[in-house]
Amino acid sequence: MAMTDIKTKIANLFPAPEDVPADAEVMPGGKPYLGGLDYLVDGQVKRWSGASTDVLSPVCVRQGGKTRRKVIGPCAMLTKEEALAALSAAVRAWDKGCGPWPRMKIQERLRRLELFAARMAAQREPCVRLLMWEIGKSRADSEKEFDRTIEYLHDTVRSVKNGDRNASRFLAHSGILAQIRRAPLGVVLSLGPFNYPLNESFATLIPALIMGNPVVAKGPRFGMLCMAPLLPAFAECFPPGVVNILNGDGAVVAGSIVETGAIAALAFIGSTKVANILKKQHPRPNRMRCVLGMGAKNPGIILKDADLDLTVAQCVTGALSFNGQRCTALKLIFVHRSLADRFVEKLSAEVDKLPFGMPWEKGVQLTPLPEPGKAEFLKGWVDEACKKGASIANTYGGLANETFYFPAVVYPTPKGTALYEQEQFGPLVPVTPFDDVQEIEDWIVASDFGQQASIFGQDPRVVGPLIDVLANQICRINLNAQCQRGPDVYPFTGRKDSAESTLSVSDALRCFSVRSMVAVPENPANKELLHGIMLERTSNFLNTDYIF
Ligand code: G3H
Repeated sequence: MAMTDIKTKIANLFPAPEDVPADAEVMPGGKPYLGGLDYLVDGQVKRWSGASTDVLSPVCVRQGGKTRRKVIGPCAMLTKEEALAALSAAVRAWDKGCGPWPRMKIQERLRRLELFAARMAAQREPCVRLLMWEIGKSRADSEKEFDRTIEYLHDTVRSVKNGDRNASRFLAHSGILAQIRRAPLGVVLSLGPFNYPLNESFATLIPALIMGNPVVAKGPRFGMLCMAPLLPAFAECFPPGVVNILNGDGAVVAGSIVETGAIAALAFIGSTKVANILKKQHPRPNRMRCVLGMGAKNPGIILKDADLDLTVAQCVTGALSFNGQRCTALKLIFVHRSLADRFVEKLSAEVDKLPFGMPWEKGVQLTPLPEPGKAEFLKGWVDEACKKGASIANTYGGLANETFYFPAVVYPTPKGTALYEQEQFGPLVPVTPFDDVQEIEDWIVASDFGQQASIFGQDPRVVGPLIDVLANQICRINLNAQCQRGPDVYPFTGRKDSAESTLSVSDALRCFSVRSMVAVPENPANKELLHGIMLERTSNFLNTDYIF
């Protein structure tokens, strides 16, 4: 498309209200969605009548000559009082570890999770539409997020069953018989991120629940509404107080819960800054296990023998899926100087071909951004890099309209700029040439982050030693492929400011539990006692039942 056509398309990007297709609307005729006023405490879905805020969509609408972010509907701004009521309900459900949920047989907990999965599946379409409107995620990606979450739930159930088969055995060492199981920790506070408000929230909430912990969860800044359609299913499938879901300001809701000291585990996916604020608020931090997924600046490293077509394709999706709003996105691309010009030219051409538009449009890959002022923020970083010698390499890079920003390939991104060192979390693709891999190793060692990297190249004598350096700096090295979290059975973690603890289907179960054992000196009287407990089924913890 010619530049003028693209400019016109971007200028007319946003629809008039009557042009929004009916099968994309959250509510018929674009009426306000009121589910954001609902919250779940102590097994009851309540409707809030106090202070609320309007949830602004990244999608704008054109009306009366003005372009404005569409108001999806109100969202409850719950206060410290409701936060503490939810915490009390969870503390009661825990009941010093003696509540029905933590003591319930794992088979019964799994049955309820599977029931929840079935109820959740019925809410796919409302959740998908809310994701499109709240965070601007394309329909295809919103559906993928929803389906991946259900799949994660089923995988977790399978993983528990496998683990439990091993735990049902008795061990015998040095005259001591032992049965070792994983036991819950206590009340978990779960806070998910805006880029995966459903999937990443559930990636901690579900394993925490399965292991027997009551949970208080709060939706992210953007993406608060997409859990609303699931509140009745939570209320129906779990005992009162086991799942509590709140909306509101993070500092008020999460802060007032953590400072009580009643939280046994914090599951937080978001910025390093907020994670550290929350950690410091706990009066006895040693009692709060932290499961944190935070920032990242994953580099792409393009060696001189890289397959250019494959590398460009992986860099485009790696840097720009969901507009680059992924912690796993490629956020700085180092390219060997010998192929830098060819790479930048090809990359720029491919970026300029990316289809953009409204989240419900078929095949769309670039969409509006939910963070207020994000387009201006990105422009500021590009301006800084350009003042220090870079240029925007792609024709349409930086064209913007309200919440939309066309991705900019910034080359050569100089040292000492924000774009070179910090996380952009948006559609900017900084590229910088290198002569010696030592330059990249130095950058990685100096970086505050330590999540993943992608190496593109073919020579074992170059790739092998580079792997050895990276393996002790980051936690996943992708060869000839973009960075990513999945498959969810693989460990997802990081070093430095990128993560604390490891998430995967099986690791998450370990995160939200501790090994607890029964140890018995092996003698006839004790064997008799064990036999009695098994035969009369007097303990939920100590038993040899298998889950099938
Ligand atoms: O934002 C961080 C996500 O965990 C990334 O997951 O690689 O599947 O997009 P993804």
